[in-house]
Amino acid sequence: MGSALVAGLLKANWCSPSDLAIVQPSSPKREALEERFPGVKVLDQVSKNDVNEQTGAVLCVKPDHAEAVARNLSSAGVGRLLSVVAGLSTQRLEATFKNSVPVIRSMPNTPVLIGEGVSAISGGEHCVAADLEWAESILGAVGTVVRVPERYQDTVGALSGAMPAYLYMVVESLIEAGVHQGLTRDLATSLVVDTFAGAGQLLKHSGESPEQLRFNVTSPGGVTAAGIRMLEQRALRAAFLEAVASAAERSRQLGR
Ligand SMILES: NC(=O)c1ccc[n+]([C@@H]2O[C@H](COP(=O)([O-])OP(=O)(O)OC[C@H]3O[C@@H](n4cnc5c(N)ncnc54)[C@H](OP(=O)(O)O)[C@@H]3O)[C@@H](O)[C@H]2O)c1
Repeated sequence: MGSALVAGLLKANWCSPSDLAIVQPSSPKREALEERFPGVKVLDQVSKNDVNEQTGAVLCVKPDHAEAVARNLSSAGVGRLLSVVAGLSTQRLEATFKNSVPVIRSMPNTPVLIGEGVSAISGGEHCVAADLEWAESILGAVGTVVRVPERYQDTVGALSGAMPAYLYMVVESLIEAGVHQGLTRDLATSLVVDTFAGAGQLLKHSGESPEQLRFNVTSPGGVTAAGIRMLEQRALRAAFLEAVASAAERSRQLGR
């Protein structure tokens, strides 16, 4: 997630490489980052000499490490923090700082890797408009950004955060279904992956609702209708309702 953001910021000319620094404790990973992002400083840890109160930090570590890393950033004196950490509230991150540092919580998703992500951001207690604009400009370099009240963040994580995994599972299942009907795996993969990408583009650019697009390919009593009847019998919609509810509950648990 962190390197996707650096790549997006550089591609968007958000700043010059020398304005950025990446903190990465592992030495082989530091070398790979230096090679990938020439001109960007790559540090093993952050210290007071590297930052001032104008410095913004983006927290992109696993939830288990997040508060310890935020405490280091606080000791070094960073001026604001954007977190992409799932489940971790702005309140808990604010508590790792000695002073009233603005904290923005966000939930991006993996299409940020190709600049096509969608991220939701929420400002903590000390945020003003300029802090949200700063966060939006960073995540906007790798996709679209929406602002939501923080109480929605667990649901956003369970929906758009996790959704690439749900959709890949649908794709895998459909490839398997093609193979079971006698197509080669390569042919089934090509048909399903290209249809997935094309259907997504059609949904995004046609201006039609998903229901209308589905109606458009469902002739009365036809082939698609027979397939959809089986999905309804197997309660596909209920499975998604329960999947998102379960993922949101897990996000709430992680944040406790
Ligand atoms: N992946 C997603 O779809 C997604 C979506 C939304 C939000 N998120 C959130 O994004 C965060 C990062 O996820 P990820 O998938 O990018 O994880 P990741 O690939 O494991 O990246 C985390 C990076 O943090 C480094 N790190 C560990 N300790 C550190 C420290 N003390 N200081 C600086 N860097 C340190 C890790 O290095 P080592 O490997 O050497 O430990 C690793 O390079 C998570 O909190 C997750 O909840 C992820």
